[in-house]
Amino acid sequence: MIVSLYQNRPSFGEIKKNVKTVINAVSDREFDILVLPELFAAGYQFKDTAEAHSLADPAGEGETFEKMQKLAVEKNALIIYGFPEKADGRLYNSSLAVLPDGNYHLYQKVHLFDTEKAIFSPGQTGFFVFEFRQTGIGMMICFDWRFPEAARKLTLDGAQIICHPSNLVLPHCPDAMKTRALENNVFTVTCDRVGSENRTGRQLKFIGKSRIIAPDGEVLGELGTDDPGFLSADIDPQLAANKQITLNNEILSDRRPEFY
Ligand code: ACM
Repeated sequence: MIVSLYQNRPSFGEIKKNVKTVINAVSDREFDILVLPELFAAGYQFKDTAEAHSLADPAGEGETFEKMQKLAVEKNALIIYGFPEKADGRLYNSSLAVLPDGNYHLYQKVHLFDTEKAIFSPGQTGFFVFEFRQTGIGMMICFDWRFPEAARKLTLDGAQIICHPSNLVLPHCPDAMKTRALENNVFTVTCDRVGSENRTGRQLKFIGKSRIIAPDGEVLGELGTDDPGFLSADIDPQLAANKQITLNNEILSDRRPEFY
């Protein structure tokens, strides 16, 4: 199974242009799964909720969704991307997993980071796993990495690949994801963005360093800090199905939650 990501450099608010750039960049690539960054087409630093509303879509509607759905059908692939979602008068920092048949799964970010709390409501979908090509797929978004319970819950529910759209501004996540992969014996695909934004008097520099990591913590591929780029790895998801790490240790059944 070929898992891939595209680390982009979006221009704030220029949704059409940002979507087109990504589609052009992946058009001659082959993959089973493509992960894109958190809020990949809208940009990150909204001035206020009115601005975020103007750039948000209901799940499964709008131009970004239509283009991603077309891409999923044409590529016969699973496309996972982050977007600002509007639902019931609220805003969520969400990701959609669009399947090759055009249907989708919606995840709303559970752990909001810093000033996101002024714009978005905390997600209500919770962490869940769905099957794609006999493989358990889970989603989390960016700052969810800081809460090991997120990746653990996905693992307990059968995730073999954790897809992780991100907009990282702190330096710790790329290395921490080696631990998330190792402690759960899962593949992780963290897709970050590059570039910077200063729309509220506060400079944010996004650190790039998108990574695909194997269940043993090995970094299968990594991008740099400044440039957009495509990354892929040919993986065997079965490596994440077997949690036996020695003859006498199976990491999920060895847990002793009564002592935690
Ligand atoms: C983040 O959650 N975008 C840092």
